[in-house]
Amino acid sequence: MKSARKKIAVLTSYDHPTATILDESGIDIVLVGDSVGNVILGYENTIPVTMDEMLHHTKAVTRAVSNAMVIVDMPFMSYQLNPEQALSNASRFIKEGGANGVKIEGDIYIDSIKKIIEAGIPVMGHLGFTPQLVNQIGGYRVQGRSADEAKAIIEGAKDLEKAGVFCLVLEMVPALLARRISETLSIPVIGIGAGPHCDGQVLVINDILGFSVNGMPKFAKKYTDLHAEIKKAVANYISDVRGGRFPGSEHSF
Ligand code: KIV
Repeated sequence: MKSARKKIAVLTSYDHPTATILDESGIDIVLVGDSVGNVILGYENTIPVTMDEMLHHTKAVTRAVSNAMVIVDMPFMSYQLNPEQALSNASRFIKEGGANGVKIEGDIYIDSIKKIIEAGIPVMGHLGFTPQLVNQIGGYRVQGRSADEAKAIIEGAKDLEKAGVFCLVLEMVPALLARRISETLSIPVIGIGAGPHCDGQVLVINDILGFSVNGMPKFAKKYTDLHAEIKKAVANYISDVRGGRFPGSEHSF
């Protein structure tokens, strides 16, 4: 798709009905993001998310998807100890979870990334703002604004490509930096808060649907307002139950 200059559309999904709709709609990649932690499970961020939680959501998604590629986030501390731990956990997402590949944040654990790829598991990289390092970074902020930071991200991107990642997510970096990296790498670069020049875009499904209680990041676009729609539907249901209008004869045996 990159060489054909066809943009790649990626969305997260964490459950079976949503993944079914995404696949039917022709999405290219479904990402079972560890954003499940803050978007679905009520954690403050992605750090507490466990292997078991990721596997649980991965299975729900892969049971629904027959066309798109399904990539799963390796959760915090599931790949940092050593390459053996990383491969053992990555293989669970493929064998038990039914996913097609995994995503790993950062360019520090290159040996683990190589080991996973050598075993035949595609790895998606992730640079720029990496949410699992929010405590170290000190908050949610754009990365690569200074020349030194930008250089480090460019070098990291090249290292990841050399290590064999099939694709790279760039999160919250200036658009011009993302453009430079997209033009430099031969693998596709998927942006999130990284401007319009990337080879594709990824967003969190709940953000585009307006189905979130955490507020919207600046880079996301709301295509509908499910929060308001669900509230309306639930209020109508409560009113019907209390008013004796539900169930009607058509809902009764
Ligand atoms: O966890 C996630 O949802 C991500 C993003 C790139 C959307 O990593």
